[in-house]
Amino acid sequence: MKNLLFIFFCPLIFLYAQQEKKVEDMLFQLTNEEKITMCHAQSKFTSPGVPRLGIPELSMSDGPHGIRPEINWDDWGYANWTNDYVTAFPALTCLAATFNPDLSMDYGISIGEEARYRKKDILLGPGVNIYRTPLNGRNFEYMGEDPYLASELVVPYVKGVQKNGVAACVKHYALNNQEQWRGHINVEVSDRALHEIYLPAFKAAVKQGNAWAIMGSYNKFREQHCCHNDLLLNKILKKSWGFDGVVISDWGGVHNTDEAIYNGLDIEMGTPSDRSYSKRYPYNSNFLGNPFLKKIIEGEVNESILDDKVRRILRLMMRTSLNKDRPFGSINSKQHYETAYKIASEGVVLLKNAENFLPLDKSKQIKIAVIGENAEKSMSVGGGSSELKPDKEISPLFGIKKEFKNAVIKYAKGYSSNPDEDHDDLRKEALTIVKESDVVLFIGGLNKNNFQDSEANDRKNYQLPYGQPKLINEISKHNKNIAVILISGNAVKTDWKTNVKSILQTWYLGSEAGNAIASILSGEINPSGKLPFTFPESLIDNGAHYFGKLSYPGDGVSQYYKEDILVGYRWHDTKNIKPSFSFGYGLSYTSFELIDINSNKKNYLTNENIKISCTVKNTGKFEGKEVVQVYIGKVNSKVNRAKKELRGFKKVFVKVNKSEKTEIEIPVKNLAYYNEIDSDWEIEKGDYIIYVGNASNNILDKIIITIS
Ligand code: BGC
Repeated sequence: MKNLLFIFFCPLIFLYAQQEKKVEDMLFQLTNEEKITMCHAQSKFTSPGVPRLGIPELSMSDGPHGIRPEINWDDWGYANWTNDYVTAFPALTCLAATFNPDLSMDYGISIGEEARYRKKDILLGPGVNIYRTPLNGRNFEYMGEDPYLASELVVPYVKGVQKNGVAACVKHYALNNQEQWRGHINVEVSDRALHEIYLPAFKAAVKQGNAWAIMGSYNKFREQHCCHNDLLLNKILKKSWGFDGVVISDWGGVHNTDEAIYNGLDIEMGTPSDRSYSKRYPYNSNFLGNPFLKKIIEGEVNESILDDKVRRILRLMMRTSLNKDRPFGSINSKQHYETAYKIASEGVVLLKNAENFLPLDKSKQIKIAVIGENAEKSMSVGGGSSELKPDKEISPLFGIKKEFKNAVIKYAKGYSSNPDEDHDDLRKEALTIVKESDVVLFIGGLNKNNFQDSEANDRKNYQLPYGQPKLINEISKHNKNIAVILISGNAVKTDWKTNVKSILQTWYLGSEAGNAIASILSGEINPSGKLPFTFPESLIDNGAHYFGKLSYPGDGVSQYYKEDILVGYRWHDTKNIKPSFSFGYGLSYTSFELIDINSNKKNYLTNENIKISCTVKNTGKFEGKEVVQVYIGKVNSKVNRAKKELRGFKKVFVKVNKSEKTEIEIPVKNLAYYNEIDSDWEIEKGDYIIYVGNASNNILDKIIITIS
């Protein structure tokens, strides 16, 4: 075994040493002025290289679900190029809802290829901030409320991107869980919640995914901005996790030269350029520009600190722009659209399906009323920095018309996000169509407008906006055959749910949105998505909101994460608060049974793995996929614990009348909690309950095991 490990690691160690030697050679040739320029921007999305030595500039782009259109060199205007149309991949909430790490690898490879084709060295994504409140305007860019799920999905994404010689820049590190006051809010959170809830996905991206870059967040943590936060960057990221890549600031997230120098930041981006300072080098006025240089020249700052930053930047260049072997990339390929479609259709979650209302038979000549602004609205445009210029974006209405060729389809907007439209007219028009139709497909939800699912602000409330609840209820008085298709990256209040037959949660699906939604509606694809976050009945049922303003959104200066480790379903479960739809939940057109649930043993040592086996039986009429979910809870813990936490899952495909056996392996060390007194992970000995089910609130069997 030892020999095998040696044979495997030896070439890797050799390659790393070779790379490091080149880095040192380049570093040796650089002047301090050149080194300093590499530590800050030279335009909105590039940082300078060293022309004298042929060291190329670094080119960056958002992320995280497509390559952003080109921005002007030195202002936020779009450059209006005609060669920057891309594939819009589904937003990361959808990826998380697939519960399928293989698809995450495909996602990473495809988006990395597009980044490479567009000559980007760093992709500003993925985002893995934990879903804490349904009001956070940027939840749609992240992977949900569970640290284990987000970790399992971020690793393949990062690896996939980086196969292209493009660095993934994992963001926003850390605790950027709301948009309101994001530039200055000071987050106070316990060490346990930090390590158990908010950091694991970043840690996995770094330690298992080998991410080459990470982006500091805008907010403060314990009174220090996260882009130059000693604890987060120096102590945890670089020292404890051994991160050898580059820390990039969020755009405009740097506030202080000394902290930026000493607290772990490597590249400062987005600080405004100052043309009065220098016409040619306006970014030299940045915190890590001339103020830094002056301190180096005057001997106030040791050169080794500058060298550490530049070494990291050169290392990233060796992995990306200076890597002669990296592939060329590709864009808008058939394969990218296939990947986008697969992820989109596998991420859609069926929340309700009374009387098996869905799927709709596409061979029938039915009359379908499609109602709702979101049936036609582009969801790639807007939302902030993740906005895209897709080469194609199939709208739900277009997709439905294409799929249901035998049906008579009538469309009415019904409601509008534009306050200037005549809402009463829209409503009346919708009701007229609804009355004459066999089936109503209400396509609503949120959108990418400001104060919806959008950067820089949070949502103002939990309701569906623009009078949609009232409209849904009114429609239901005229036609009972309604399916509501929610397009959003966030949970919404669903107090209208008893008035409709079916509900689909369909996220922001990108280029293939309409095709994926139509395939689900017709049964061409059997839904298999699971919610990556809880839908509370009302906001007060969510842990962050339960504790009032100081917890969310804070008092304008600070906020306190008072729910502590009990985020999302951990709160609902532990406090016995029934959600509208729970984490991990999602229906299928078929029915599954989970049987023969066993553990390989009953007693484990701390260095062993728990193996849970389970057979998934398809007892319904469609082939499909089910997600076996394993949650574990500690009995009589000496510390506060969530009743149960997700520790393993597997998505299993099963044909009609068939069974598939699956096994889920969980290292006992993953059951550790973060001991705040020792500042270390501790595995508590004693009994644990293993819960196996297909949703956090649908547990089909329990097993008691003992750790000794
Ligand atoms: C966002 C980042 C983004 C950056 C560059 C910031 O406002 O928070 O996610 O990568 O802008 O567009």
